[in-house]
Amino acid sequence: MKILFSGDVAWSSGREALKKAIPILKQEHGGFDFIIINCENAAHGKGMTDKIFAELISYGVDGMTSGNHIWDKMGFYPTLHAETRIFRPANYASSCPGRGYGIIERKGKKLGILNLEGQIFMPPIDNPFLCADVAIEELKAEGGENLPIFVDIHAEATSEKLALGYYLDGRVSAVVGTHTHVQTADEKVLPKGTAYLSDAGMTGGHGGVIGVKYESVISKFLDGLPTQFEGCDKDLAFNGVIVEINEASGLAEKIMRVQLKT
Ligand code: FE2
Repeated sequence: MKILFSGDVAWSSGREALKKAIPILKQEHGGFDFIIINCENAAHGKGMTDKIFAELISYGVDGMTSGNHIWDKMGFYPTLHAETRIFRPANYASSCPGRGYGIIERKGKKLGILNLEGQIFMPPIDNPFLCADVAIEELKAEGGENLPIFVDIHAEATSEKLALGYYLDGRVSAVVGTHTHVQTADEKVLPKGTAYLSDAGMTGGHGGVIGVKYESVISKFLDGLPTQFEGCDKDLAFNGVIVEINEASGLAEKIMRVQLKT
């Protein structure tokens, strides 16, 4: 099983880069069984809308993970609640709309998706490690012991992400980080067969500061006054990862970082 995952798709530039990158990567790599993206910054940098959800699906996306910004546009809550192809971090209160994990299907294949969020330098939420234990047990009860499972850990600290990788090693197919918008170069298959990368990076405009025009970010750092951020439309690129999974074992065979200028 071959999975293409995009790190945070940021602003309209991110959607444009994704639209261009998917057909190129499909051709280069002989197609994918599943295309997953982190969509939390897809709508004007914060959250999601129904229109953008449909747009991303039309590009060939099979599933979406998210993070802290998924709550920013309240008009999307009904879709977040009803749609089975989009996930929000599982370690928020159960009263929050949406689901944190589930199984998506395409052409007779099944993939478990688990979305978690870190606790370090992030809003106060439940422990992602303990939440993962419950989620993985439920996913395997539904999809079988060797169900391929992709985990997006949306977090700031690489230490927390890597510790989670080792904690889940051998129990899931991949643990890939998002949220920092900067791709790390530490991809590896961990000793018990889980593919790992601290951060997949950002699909969007790389000529600014993590997807935002740098002028508005510098001004914020100079005087701390509220600033109207604008999406960066320079140096568009896809950032993500390709993971190959042995379907018999549900464990990873290969992980490869992807950076594609579009
Ligand atoms: Fe985030």
